[in-house]
Amino acid sequence: MKKVGIIGWRGMVGSVLISRMIEEGDFNRIEASFFSTSQSGQSGPLINEIQYTLKDALSAESLSEMDIIISAQGGDYTKEIRPKLESLNWKGYWIDAASAKRMDDDSVIILDPVNKAHIDQSIDRGVKNYIGGNCTVSLMLMGVGSLFQHDLIEWMSSMTYQAASGGGAKHMKELLSQMSVIGDEYEKIQDSNILDIDDKMSSLLRGNDLDAKNFGVPLALNIIPWIDSSLDNGQTREEWKAMSEANKILNLEQQIPIDGTCVRIGALRSHSQALTIKLKRNIPLDEIESILKSNSEWVEFVDNNPESTREKLNPRYVSGTLKTTVGRVRKMNLGDEYLNLFTCGDQLLWGAAEPLRRMMNILL
Ligand code: HSE
Repeated sequence: MKKVGIIGWRGMVGSVLISRMIEEGDFNRIEASFFSTSQSGQSGPLINEIQYTLKDALSAESLSEMDIIISAQGGDYTKEIRPKLESLNWKGYWIDAASAKRMDDDSVIILDPVNKAHIDQSIDRGVKNYIGGNCTVSLMLMGVGSLFQHDLIEWMSSMTYQAASGGGAKHMKELLSQMSVIGDEYEKIQDSNILDIDDKMSSLLRGNDLDAKNFGVPLALNIIPWIDSSLDNGQTREEWKAMSEANKILNLEQQIPIDGTCVRIGALRSHSQALTIKLKRNIPLDEIESILKSNSEWVEFVDNNPESTREKLNPRYVSGTLKTTVGRVRKMNLGDEYLNLFTCGDQLLWGAAEPLRRMMNILL
């Protein structure tokens, strides 16, 4: 059995990864080792009645005994450890949730329902680094990847509605704590006139009573159209990733322009996005629908009506599942070649953990 080392298994993405690996019986196929940067020698997780003892995640020698390493430890760890393994001439495979190596020439961004052929060719070529994509990009491609594969897209604009989980566990808790303070305040004034209630809520949002140290400003009852750092061209780094990562995942020589505004909203763990697509030609909607449905077994097509949309095209429906819903599919007033779409997916599953465990299985 292949030796697989896992690092960062206690964090949010790591925990989702381990729970999916247990669900899918992945631990029966590997000889697993768990690593820690601070608790080497102590007890690790108990899985299938095996009590693991933690190994030292800062020891490149110890890591180099693995055939495959899966890291959800973060980019700083990747930057520190990956070169050390390189210098030991380690020949194993590095699977990583962090973005640090994503755009490097010696890595492939993994999303096998969309780019399995590219992954297979890269393994044959000897590529050793397989990196999970940005959650928003992966979820967009899980929704509409087949339109790219059928070479139907001239350009795309993506307007995102990103959940608190994209920031991390602390951000999720911060949103919930803001909601709790807001709920408590509302309870005191719920019988007041709505404009008085609104006034009170607005003061609460502008004051210092809501904990907002992670997001910078309250997210509850609010939105933040800025995610990640700023670039010189006015984009945020999150917005930059849409085009650069999507084209890399699809391994396209002729780049397809993608751009839009990334917005943090008060959903907890599922991202949504509204897409405007300029098609290369006028394609009938029924053809588009069947191409979208052919994308993968995880796509659920949502009819463009109020009931189905309210029921399925939202974080409430997809959270905790592997479903990617795609709906609001219609031609736009802009012209017959302009397509409107909306898609939702779980940020921690297809957006983070799922491609990693699937990559391990491809390698096995
Ligand atoms: N950058 C994403 C977000 C996290 O902030 O929502 C997933 O890659």
